[in-house]
Amino acid sequence: MALHSADPDSRPEAAALRLIRHAPGAPALRLGLGAGWRPVGAIGQLRALLNDHSFWAAGRSAGDLRRMLRHSQAAVSAWDGRQLVGFGRASSDGVYRAALWDVVVAEAYQGQGLGRELVTLLLEAPLLRGVERTYLMTTNSAGFYRQLGFAEMPSQKLLLRQQIKKTG
Ligand SMILES: CC(C)(COP(=O)(O)OP(=O)(O)OC[C@H]1O[C@@H](n2cnc3c(N)ncnc32)[C@H](O)[C@@H]1OP(=O)(O)O)[C@@H](O)C(=O)NCCC(=O)NCCS
Repeated sequence: MALHSADPDSRPEAAALRLIRHAPGAPALRLGLGAGWRPVGAIGQLRALLNDHSFWAAGRSAGDLRRMLRHSQAAVSAWDGRQLVGFGRASSDGVYRAALWDVVVAEAYQGQGLGRELVTLLLEAPLLRGVERTYLMTTNSAGFYRQLGFAEMPSQKLLLRQQIKKTG
């Protein structure tokens, strides 16, 4: 688990924030650990963060979130003490293609540069940094990603195969 300290001078109101870039599969997060390896109920907190701040990832179960993390090649979490205040993850083949998923910053922490820091750390993860193309999908945040070097691709179409999720 790599720790990344925020620069307290550039963001004084958020000096206590810590960003963690997790190992592939995010084993510590799956065990419920937060910054400093403290048990903080991280999966329950991730569930609440996604429920409260995303429309696409609301209602995911704790078990499915653990599976999701296990099969993600990169993940970053942001903490204010014991509280999870930001998250993002990525899948990648390590060479040609990667995709960012589930980037979320808690509302009270938005607009302070945390999202930018979080995505930058994600893009620098070992299995992402050398990849030829990194994709993402967004409904309302294209301007945010443009500032991070992403460009819209009018020549390409997004196709979706929706799987009906079985319960039980
Ligand atoms: C999108 C999100 C992750 C941005 O996080 P954040 O911490 O607020 O972003 P930052 O403060 O790092 O913003 C960096 C820059 O992007 C801009 N920006 C932030 N959100 C934006 C948006 N939705 N559209 C356009 N620009 C945006 C900021 O104004 C800032 O620009 P500046 O440096 O010129 O002031 C956050 O607003 C969020 O979690 N939203 C809800 C979930 C969501 O929609 N996630 C994206 C899924 S693809």
